[in-house]
Amino acid sequence: MSSIHDLPVDALRRRYGLAHFVETGTHLGDGVQSALDCGFEHVHSCDLMEHVVEAAQRRFAQNPRVSLYHADSVAFLREVLPRLSGPAFFWLDAHFPDFYGYPCLPEQRFPLAEELRLIAHHRSAKDVIACDDIRVVADPHNPAFMPGVLERGGHAALVVPDVSIATLAHPLAATHTWRVDVAAEGILLFEPRSA
Ligand SMILES: C[S@@+](CC[C@H](N)C(=O)[O-])C[C@H]1O[C@@H](n2cnc3c(N)ncnc32)[C@H](O)[C@@H]1O
Repeated sequence: MSSIHDLPVDALRRRYGLAHFVETGTHLGDGVQSALDCGFEHVHSCDLMEHVVEAAQRRFAQNPRVSLYHADSVAFLREVLPRLSGPAFFWLDAHFPDFYGYPCLPEQRFPLAEELRLIAHHRSAKDVIACDDIRVVADPHNPAFMPGVLERGGHAALVVPDVSIATLAHPLAATHTWRVDVAAEGILLFEPRSA
């Protein structure tokens, strides 16, 4: 798991005038806290696990800049994207609920391709989008994927064999430049072409 500290989020926020931070996968709320510390006007975050959302609601109870959702990431984005105004930073970090002991539907294990399609459909070319844990995408063109490493570490179940980096990038390729940063656990970063 990478953290948003593996990216120059504050510099990106200033460069592109980003108002909102939108996160899939709240977990302990550390991404939410980092986004607040960076100065985003509003933070929206969701998690599939109810106890995780309840703990985060307690942690950020006093903060009107934080909105938390108990929802899977695709349902969350369908609800939030149409009503966001102003450029946003997306931190797409929701995957493998079963890794956390949470039973899930097959499509909830690695919903990144659908998340990116939704963002491309609903949003402007001015957003910045960062996708975590790209090392799991078993694509020979993925510089963050090291064949055999996850298996040798006892994490064979995390290997995603049926998605390519080109497929993930396709919906945003006309409006954004993109690259895979091999730092931490691999981050696919999209930046506006129009900057
Ligand atoms: C790596 S942690 C998130 C860490 C957090 N974003 C941070 O930066 O501190 C992943 C979280 O995603 C959640 N998750 C996994 N699959 C999900 C899905 N399909 N929809 C929503 N949340 C999901 C898990 O319950 C877990 O809490």
